Amino acid sequence: MRAIFRAFFIYLFVVVSATLCAEKYITTFQPETPEKFKRFGEYFYDMKNVNPYPIPNVLDRPDGKGKVKTAQEWTQQVRPLVLKYFEDEVYGAIPPRPDTIKFELFESSKNALGGIAERRQYRITVGAKYGERTFHVLLYLPLNAKGTPAFICPNFNGNYTISSEPEVKKIIAYRSRMKTHQRGSYASRIPVAEIVARGYAIATFSYEEIYNDGKSQEIAQKSVYGIFEENPTPKNSIAMWAWGNMRVMDLLQTLPEIDSQKIAVAGHSRMGKTALLTGAFDTRFAYVIVNNSGCMGDALSKRKYGETIKSMFGTHQVGYWFSPALKKYIDNEGTMPLDQHHLLATIAPRMLYTTSATEDYWADPEGQLLGLIHACPIYKLFGATNFPTLDALEIEKPVHANVAYHIRKGKHDMTSYDWNNFIDYAEKCGWKPKTK
Ligand code: GCU
Repeated sequence: MRAIFRAFFIYLFVVVSATLCAEKYITTFQPETPEKFKRFGEYFYDMKNVNPYPIPNVLDRPDGKGKVKTAQEWTQQVRPLVLKYFEDEVYGAIPPRPDTIKFELFESSKNALGGIAERRQYRITVGAKYGERTFHVLLYLPLNAKGTPAFICPNFNGNYTISSEPEVKKIIAYRSRMKTHQRGSYASRIPVAEIVARGYAIATFSYEEIYNDGKSQEIAQKSVYGIFEENPTPKNSIAMWAWGNMRVMDLLQTLPEIDSQKIAVAGHSRMGKTALLTGAFDTRFAYVIVNNSGCMGDALSKRKYGETIKSMFGTHQVGYWFSPALKKYIDNEGTMPLDQHHLLATIAPRMLYTTSATEDYWADPEGQLLGLIHACPIYKLFGATNFPTLDALEIEKPVHANVAYHIRKGKHDMTSYDWNNFIDYAEKCGWKPKTK
């Protein structure tokens, strides 16, 4: 009897101490700074405003014809309706492939990153009815790459900010508020040497070469949109950035060193929203990585914690990221027929990884994880059974199940911790890098 008691107390001790040690992210009221309140005139983190609307079940068909029952029904009938909604109501249409596309290798070295990598720089020129535009891709490959898996991840400030190698061409995209940066000043966001050392290729380009991140008519005109429309109004820039990812995919598909079945799209923040849209509309991407993407990325809009559609169109002035049709949902999320979990579900059955950071309240970590959880019933239709629950809000305890999630300690960012987890998950899913 005594032995049973002792065993019971030891068990209790283990359970209680494990619970006390585990640190979990909890959504709480965050005091609004007076500065922010002045800027936005709204309380974003007030718990009494959270969860005002029910979350639509991803299995309910948007056309009202009952519930989706099979993977085939989802793929053939329902998924196209979901994509159509996001195209019409949220992001606008992603333009087609350009009429012409040219890849020029303008620089390369087999002695890059201290001798572990091959570096290549490409100029991509795209053309359609109203003209041509050019942008630049920086690619690092492991030496002697063969059947290598690859990541495509746009950067914010220019390829030269991701690598401090002096050969990396310094291009400053036309942009009203563009400034020059130190070489390598954003290298921690895309740690190319670590990625290559683990056997993966990484391709990056500046998103602003596709569409400058600004709201003027002139920017819309100079953007890649200008090859498709004579006088484009400022709109749909996320769709355009996603189109940029697709063109880099076109390039990688021509390279025999890369396994075109193992190409991931990744992105941080607004580029996380972009990665999600890219993967939704382009199934060539086998793995979609949505980092700290928040509102209109992986976070549920109907939850109303942190950023909202209203602040995006209002004080934040980034309405041009979206279709003008999204405006009708400002302060009106209750009438949205679908939410972001539907977009996440369109990635199924492919690999999907979403992330949060503990200090990134603006992106609503719990709303992000809920977005992923609510998408999982579609993965289940494809036979998956192992999904994250709200327990995944435990800090830095990644859940690498049939979809993956982690919450990192710290700020809104993309770090080596995140990348190593993206790669761990790829390996878990069988992406084994090979060399000759
Ligand atoms: C702002 C914006 C977010 C976006 C982020 C970023 O915070 O409100 O929606 O994700 O910028 O791209 O860094």
